[in-house]
Amino acid sequence: MSLALVPGSFDPVTNGHLDIIRRTSSLFERVCVVVATNSRKAPLFTVEERLDMLSEVCAPYANVTVDVCEGLLVHFAARCGAQVIVKGLRFVSDFENELQMARLNLTQNSAVETVFLPTGVEFSALSSSIVKEIARLGGAVEGLVPDSVQRHLRKKYAQP
Ligand code: PNS
Repeated sequence: MSLALVPGSFDPVTNGHLDIIRRTSSLFERVCVVVATNSRKAPLFTVEERLDMLSEVCAPYANVTVDVCEGLLVHFAARCGAQVIVKGLRFVSDFENELQMARLNLTQNSAVETVFLPTGVEFSALSSSIVKEIARLGGAVEGLVPDSVQRHLRKKYAQP
C-alpha cells in the first residue's frame, strides 16, 4: 500500500500546505504529514501545538495521519514504510534547495523517492513566516491559514 510523507515545519500550517496535503491524499493510498524539527528555525508553536492544528485541519481526509519526526526524515520513512516524500514548490529558489535535499536524501536511503508538486498560483507567495509576520503586526490572515489556525495565532500574539 503506497505511503507518502508530507514533511514540514508547519509553524503553523497554511492553506498552501493544506492544498499540497489534499492533492497528495488524492495521489497516494496513505499520507503521513510529518512535523519535522528544523534546526535552522526557532518555532513559534510547540510540536504539540503544530500536531494539534494539523490533526484538526487534516481530519476531513480519511487517508491522512499526522506524526512527528526527530532525526533524519529518510530514517523515519524507512521505519514507517514510506516510499515517497512529497514537497511543494513555490519558486525556483525552493527547487534549488529541495533538489539538494532530495539528492542528499537519496544518498541516505535510495529506496525513498522525492516527488515535487507545484503549489497553486494563489499560494505561491505564502509561507508560514509571512503569515506569522502579518499576524504579529495585527494584519488579516483570513484566506492564508485555516480558521482554527487564525485563532491560535491571535492567542499567541494576544489579540482579541
Ligand atoms: O521548509 P520546512 O517546512 O521548514 O521543512 C523542514 C524539513 C525538515 C521538512 C526540511 O528541511 C527537510 O526536508 N529536511 C530533510 C533533512 C532531514 O531529514 N531533517 C530532519 C527532519 S525530521
